[in-house]
Amino acid sequence: SAQDAAAGEKVFAVCKACHQVGETAKNVVGPVLNGIIGRKAGSVPGYSYSAANKDSGITWDEATFREYIKDPKAKVPGTKMVYAGLKDEQKTSDLIAFLKQYDAD
Ligand code: HEM
Repeated sequence: SAQDAAAGEKVFAVCKACHQVGETAKNVVGPVLNGIIGRKAGSVPGYSYSAANKDSGITWDEATFREYIKDPKAKVPGTKMVYAGLKDEQKTSDLIAFLKQYDAD
C-alpha cells in the first residue's frame, strides 16, 4: 500500500539514536541521512565509515535500501551499524517516504 511519511517519522525514531536529517543535521554516531535514497554508499563528507560500508559499491536506491535495512549485516558484512533490522515491509515503505523529504545539500 501507499507510503506514509508521517508514519515513517515514527519509524525513524529508532534511527534517531544514531542518525540526523534536516537542514541542521550533523554526523553523529552514524552519517547524516539527507538524500540517502539515490546516494552512493559511504559518501558523506567528514564521516568515518567502516571499509565495509565505504567500499560496498552500493548506491542506495529503494531496492538496496530495503535489503540493507531488513538485515544490515547481511547486506554489508562488516558494517559498524549496530541495528538488528526492520523486517516490516510497510514500515520500511513509510520510512523511505519520510527520508525522501530530505534532499542532499
Ligand atoms: C550507516 C540507515 C539505525 C548507526 C547507515 C546507512 C544507512 C543507515 C542507509 C549507510 C549510510 C551511507 O552509506 O552513507 C539507518 C536507518 C536506521 C538506522 C534508516 C533505522 C531504521 C541505526 C542505529 C545506529 C546506526 C540505531 C546506531 C546504533 C550507523 C552507523 C553507520 C550507519 C555507525 C555507519 C556504518 C559503517 O560505516 O559501517 N545507516 N540506520 N544506524 N548507521 Fe544506520
